[in-house]
Amino acid sequence: MRIGILTGGGDAPGLNGIIEAVGKSLMTKNHEVVGILDGFEGIFKNETRVLNSKDLNGLHARAGTFIGTSNKSGIRGKEKEFLQAYNKLNLDGLVVAGGDGTFSALTPFNKEIPLIGVPKTIDNDLNGTDITFGYDTACSVVSEAVDALRATADAHKRVIFVEVMGRTAGWIALGGGLAAYADVILIPERPYDKSDLLKFIASKKQTYRGLICVVSEGAFAQGGEPEVAFTVEGSPQKERYGGIAERLSKWVMTEANWESRHVVLGHLQRSKAPTTTDRFLTLAMGVQVGEMIEENDWGKAAVYKSGRVTRAPLSELMKPARLIPEKHHWVGFAKHLGIFI
Ligand code: F6P
Repeated sequence: MRIGILTGGGDAPGLNGIIEAVGKSLMTKNHEVVGILDGFEGIFKNETRVLNSKDLNGLHARAGTFIGTSNKSGIRGKEKEFLQAYNKLNLDGLVVAGGDGTFSALTPFNKEIPLIGVPKTIDNDLNGTDITFGYDTACSVVSEAVDALRATADAHKRVIFVEVMGRTAGWIALGGGLAAYADVILIPERPYDKSDLLKFIASKKQTYRGLICVVSEGAFAQGGEPEVAFTVEGSPQKERYGGIAERLSKWVMTEANWESRHVVLGHLQRSKAPTTTDRFLTLAMGVQVGEMIEENDWGKAAVYKSGRVTRAPLSELMKPARLIPEKHHWVGFAKHLGIFI
């Protein structure tokens, strides 16, 4: 068979691992593996590259994606053109590693194109899987940064706000913040009460040297909205959030009279080489994809459920984002540790 592989949306640690694992699984069975370049753009523009074993060896250890990706070009309104362009590629099926934007864009084609999905995103907000690859690495970047920043916060008796990614879901702030025992964790699922937050911070001023607050870029106060930093025309999710850490830091400086700074971790969360957990996840998912293709089991996704990599209907990944439930046990952990959440 001639199988295409496409990486869509924002890059995430583990994308190269998926390419290597899927590629090697398929090449072992003498299938041809075609990399679609730059996400959906490669389909529209017929830009592809046949992968060989030299391309694949050692790829898993690198950040980014060997075949490129894009999070600024959707399919909406161009469905017919997309299908025609896909048909021109003469593929027997397409493996897609993507996040919610990529899979919701593919919803109209679930019956038209033989598809297999793999859940990728540092945001960890895909339905149908307990974890997405890229998330563990992003959390490790956050926890390492928070641990390091605590030294400076303590040295100078400062509050430091650390802004992390997470548009509508706060998994990175919660996972990375808990792993580093942050003092405050603000996530979009739990709009914060401004006066409670200020009271909490002020109450620590006498007993703490420094204070670390981990804030999702999409977090907002009760009655407020997330801060839009800028928009990206043509992107399926146009608005890019950002600026909350800077604003909160200035606010705390004035209102709590406690010297504050802010740090935005930004794309560092996406650009690290994958952790061992993410490497294993992509290895197991890649093998699962290879087995599905051998069995002609299309319209499915390789997902992680109840401690193992298994299969789920692809439509599961096409559902709206998976947010942190109000009573999630990680929220309980934060409360038990006295973290403001
Ligand atoms: O990959 C998802 C994500 O990391 C979001 O959390 C973030 O808002 C967005 O990507 C930023 O994407 P970019 O800066 O590449 O447009």
